[in-house]
Amino acid sequence: MSKLNLAGFTKEYVMDIPEIDDQHESFFAMLDKINDVVPDMYKPLDDDEVDDLVDVIGELREYALMHFRTEESYMQEVDYAGIGKQQKEHNRFITDVIRMEAQLMNGTSVPPIKVRNFMHDWYRDHILKLDKPFSEYYRENSK
Ligand SMILES: [Fe+2]
Ligand SMILES: [Fe+2]
Repeated sequence: MSKLNLAGFTKEYVMDIPEIDDQHESFFAMLDKINDVVPDMYKPLDDDEVDDLVDVIGELREYALMHFRTEESYMQEVDYAGIGKQQKEHNRFITDVIRMEAQLMNGTSVPPIKVRNFMHDWYRDHILKLDKPFSEYYRENSK
């Protein structure tokens, strides 16, 4: 059990597209890895912790990228008009994560809690505001 009582995947995120739901759930579970490599997320990091954190963030970024490709292919399948807005947000997320990785590698202090909360909150807001409306459209328009 995490000391921080971190929120994970909850029912309100469910889209009824199993492949996408599984990926969302996995991403929230993977966020706990940040907590695993940096148990005290509020104190300054030593060099080993920075290395471990950069590795975990890279893994999360790769997973997110794979997920965005999956999701966008579902959108293409039904000619979803909202795909452009989705792609824009997906790309911005990846860019923001890369910037945090670069800051950490350059020795800039980036609190792990900030990285973790950014990723968590972005996913939550994005799923509720953009992914779920897409899933309604998908249900009505896929064969
Ligand atoms: Fe998504
Ligand atoms: Fe999305």
